[in-house]
Amino acid sequence: MEKLVSAFIFDLDGVITDTAEYHFLAWQALANDVNISFTREDNEELKGISRMESLEKILALGGREDDFSLEEKEMLAAKKNEHYLELIQKVSPSDILPGMKELILTIKAKGHKLGLASASKNAFTVMEALDLRDLFDTIVDAKEVKQGKPHPEVFLTAAEQLGVDPSTCIGVEDAVAGVEAIKAAGMFAVAVGPEESFRHADLVYSSTDEVTYEKVLNTYQK
Ligand code: BG6
Ligand code: MG
Repeated sequence: MEKLVSAFIFDLDGVITDTAEYHFLAWQALANDVNISFTREDNEELKGISRMESLEKILALGGREDDFSLEEKEMLAAKKNEHYLELIQKVSPSDILPGMKELILTIKAKGHKLGLASASKNAFTVMEALDLRDLFDTIVDAKEVKQGKPHPEVFLTAAEQLGVDPSTCIGVEDAVAGVEAIKAAGMFAVAVGPEESFRHADLVYSSTDEVTYEKVLNTYQK
């Protein structure tokens, strides 16, 4: 008998669109402001991680974790976000990563539910800019949950709002912390990124255009 798939729950930044790059550029500029060098490699550790936690990690990277008050840290995080919002101003439907619109439309046409589970407080803004908001049955962002990824809360909340059993959901992520969150939620995990980073995923694709409905479903059914 075929295993039921009730819903697909997507991460946003780095899966549906390349905002991961804008997060990186904004963090790098902020790190430079406080004299910390911050590379693309360092940035991998921040994927899927909340704004404040990301800032803490960058300060720790430069050995400056004790140099700022909470108020100063909030100002630094706000500054990064202002820069990020400037960078994403031009985001439009043409910024949807290759293959993702087709995948989303196929999932919808096949009758599965669609959810978004994002660690970003800007998820609604980005989904609107991509013109995808109305296609999703639920969008859960960082404003709605207490615990960030790798905690499963954001994926479990999405499943709950969709009214489905987490064990019948497929999650799609580009972050190590995100795949951990999907697995902790008891879901099937599809990762997009380098194979060696995602030993804990059920399926790994090196880029979004390789993720097709048929391939994911075939592996899920096995
Ligand atoms: C995640 C990104 O989706 O959102 C992280 O992968 C980012 O890089 C996090 O830090 C928080 O985003 P925001 O928009 O709330 O600052
Ligand atoms: Mg991501």
